[in-house]
Amino acid sequence: MLSDFAPRLIAWQQRHGRHDLPWQGSFEPYRVWLAEIMLQQTQVETVIPYYLRFLDRFPDLGALAAAADDDVMARWAGLGYYSRARNLHAAARRIMAEHGGVFPEAMDALLDLPGIGRSTAAAIAAFAFAQRRAILDGNVKRVLARVFGIEGWPGARTVETRLWELAENLLPASGIRSYTQGLMDLGATLCTRARPRCGACPFAPDCVANRQGRQGELPGARPRKALPEKAIVMLILLHGREVLLEKRPAPGIWGGLWSLPECPADADPVRAAAGLGYGAEAGRPGAGLIHTFTHFRLRIQPWLLPVRRTPGVGEPGRLWLALDELDGAALPTPVRRILENLRAGAGPITGGVPAWP
Ligand code: ADE
Repeated sequence: MLSDFAPRLIAWQQRHGRHDLPWQGSFEPYRVWLAEIMLQQTQVETVIPYYLRFLDRFPDLGALAAAADDDVMARWAGLGYYSRARNLHAAARRIMAEHGGVFPEAMDALLDLPGIGRSTAAAIAAFAFAQRRAILDGNVKRVLARVFGIEGWPGARTVETRLWELAENLLPASGIRSYTQGLMDLGATLCTRARPRCGACPFAPDCVANRQGRQGELPGARPRKALPEKAIVMLILLHGREVLLEKRPAPGIWGGLWSLPECPADADPVRAAAGLGYGAEAGRPGAGLIHTFTHFRLRIQPWLLPVRRTPGVGEPGRLWLALDELDGAALPTPVRRILENLRAGAGPITGGVPAWP
């Protein structure tokens, strides 16, 4: 399958790819290198004006090597990831000192320069020197993972190794410049992370992600780290069809929202309810749930505690909310779910303890 990946990509690039980017006018290694470094973490539209201004001030390797640090940084200011500028400057000086001012062609010499990793070295070798080298940046990983159905997160060593192997095996016998540009163009213009335009893609009929409708799943997402967990009991003090809510302090989790009173997971919920001034004779647990925050997971065990005492009126920071009025209330998501669950199971409450899943 897809024995014609490279020729198909080259044909597509020549007809539909980008041909007028400022760095495409020349194979001059200095210009190619500068573009590839600027494009490492920055989008094409942002790079273009910086690239032109930088070249205007430092038109060749000698000019860059001779420049003062501040001058180089000033021309980079606003582009971000400033180690790129420091590495660029240091590399220019090394090329002057160690390579007689001639940009090196050999992969190991390119990789030895600061700021040049495997994919950037390959892009420079391909564009500047027409060497048959494989690139594998984030966009290319996405294209290959989708077209060939490579499962797993591309940041994982084993997945990345497979992708590099694939990238090497797909290289064309000739036409490396169009091919390399085609991979970049496809990833940037059609095979985008969100809403890829598969209808215009030359690989659509063969692409695993497109055929299986799995564009959103390929490439695989970074696995989530195991989050720390906190367990609490949420107390549902129920009087008739009303529940007691407390306003959460701001700042803090759910600050400003109305939530159920809580007690530690190992505390006695009946005693905790008594502590709130609403003694309940008995209580029972409902279905637990887990709520995930960015930095931890909250395991919530609801306890239903019917109370007999008439609710207090106008207690600051407290509110008795009728289950029929949940819809307009400012509730945290899991509290809303717990109370909707209760409302659904409760039916008309006539004293006693309502049904509770
Ligand atoms: N991204 C990285 N290198 C690029 C290039 N040469 N053209 C367009 N986008 C790129």
